[in-house]
Amino acid sequence: MTQPEHDVLKAAQDNLWLHFTRHSAYQQSEIPTIVRGEGSYVYDIHGKRYLDGLAGLFVVQVGHGRQELAEAAAKQAQELAFFPLWSYAHPKAAELAQRLAAMTPGELNRVFFTTGGGEAVETAWKLAKQYYKLVGKPLKHKVISRQIAYHGTPQGALSITGIPAFKQMFEPLVPGSVRVPNTNHYRADEITGVKGMTPEEYGFWAAERVARAIEMEGPDTVAAVFAEPVQNAGGCFPPPPGYFQRLREICDEYDVLLVSDEVICAFGRLGTMFGGQKFDYVPDIITCAKGMTSGYAPIGAMIAHERLFEPFKDGDTMFAHGYTFGGHPVSAAVALANLDIFEREDLLGHVSANEPRFRQTLDDLRDLPIVGDVRGSGYFWGIELVKDKSTKETFSADESERLLRGFLSKALYDAGLYCRADDRGDPVIQLAPPLIAGQKEFDEIGQILRGVLGEAWAKL
Ligand SMILES: Cc1ncc(COP(=O)(O)O)c(C=O)c1O
Repeated sequence: MTQPEHDVLKAAQDNLWLHFTRHSAYQQSEIPTIVRGEGSYVYDIHGKRYLDGLAGLFVVQVGHGRQELAEAAAKQAQELAFFPLWSYAHPKAAELAQRLAAMTPGELNRVFFTTGGGEAVETAWKLAKQYYKLVGKPLKHKVISRQIAYHGTPQGALSITGIPAFKQMFEPLVPGSVRVPNTNHYRADEITGVKGMTPEEYGFWAAERVARAIEMEGPDTVAAVFAEPVQNAGGCFPPPPGYFQRLREICDEYDVLLVSDEVICAFGRLGTMFGGQKFDYVPDIITCAKGMTSGYAPIGAMIAHERLFEPFKDGDTMFAHGYTFGGHPVSAAVALANLDIFEREDLLGHVSANEPRFRQTLDDLRDLPIVGDVRGSGYFWGIELVKDKSTKETFSADESERLLRGFLSKALYDAGLYCRADDRGDPVIQLAPPLIAGQKEFDEIGQILRGVLGEAWAKL
């Protein structure tokens, strides 16, 4: 190891505070350190190559190492490195807002920029609260979200998040958020207590739980429902057919805003520009971030239906909310260049054409005794691991700890695949490669998973 490499690893050990990380895991070993990326691959500090099976963190849509995105950033930094969107505009934010509005479904035309996804969620809840105050329904402030769903870490977004373990240390959080069942059809028997519901029946049942929750809380107190098109945490739950159509009806019936949290599902992850387009629904608000710049600079957005902007148009009304770096000129310029690549290379077409192949490659793993379910959409998949396929018995907390944290995460990484073994719900492996990946990368993913999952089963 060279001295500079040694210095970096030491600095990481001594001074970095990693996110969502047990630092104890690195007491005896170095912190994995990635120095470079190219296409669907990244390289660590020792020069070892890994297939980026998670596009960083559902972010690097166009792949690593794109010079034109770096150049777009440099050009913008030279021209206008920074100006805020507080009472002023700058060209790249305006152009990006217009371009996003043109791509969204329906009349989702107002773009409020943030620096990331959690801030977009936070912004959506605050807008929902103020909107209803302005239109004479001041009691409407509560939100409904789904079990195990992750919506970010600011205290409002964390309150909407449905993962108790992430919240306990920060209670009391923002009051007024309520949980309903998610769209985990694989576990529908346990969730509903009814055996053998079809996906359609389960979708209807799950959507109805939202209506019941609104009734229980009082429709005049509920402002919004937050749902991802495909729920990430818990392991990739696509919506059963009809789920979002019923949810849309329910939201309209009770005058509750439908917020589609597309922080992961927008920008081609599902093969469509926005996630709701894949499942044919039009929300009132979209929250998005990650893939907008493919990660070459940070940005997020809350995109609202024009009618939600109406009460803010006149008089002395304003949305007293903002972020210094929201809609940063460099990030906005990079986002525009990123969207140019999407168009030029037809990435949406590429994902749609390849989705069946990716699915097939992962489905082929179903012969392994540990693979209980394979589910997802586009380039966004989860593999649920089980102890007994026939009964769907899952692992105990202890086994899950040994399997996921003790073995799988590291073994997959050592085998050259960066992806995520997640236990926020039942244990799952999550896969979401860059959108430029194709059969060669799918095969590599399949091959590494087969080897490591086989080993994991043998160890149990
Ligand atoms: C659905 C969803 N919402 C919100 C967030 C929070 O985004 P950020 O980490 O950019 O704040 C995430 C992050 O993964 C997410 O997946």
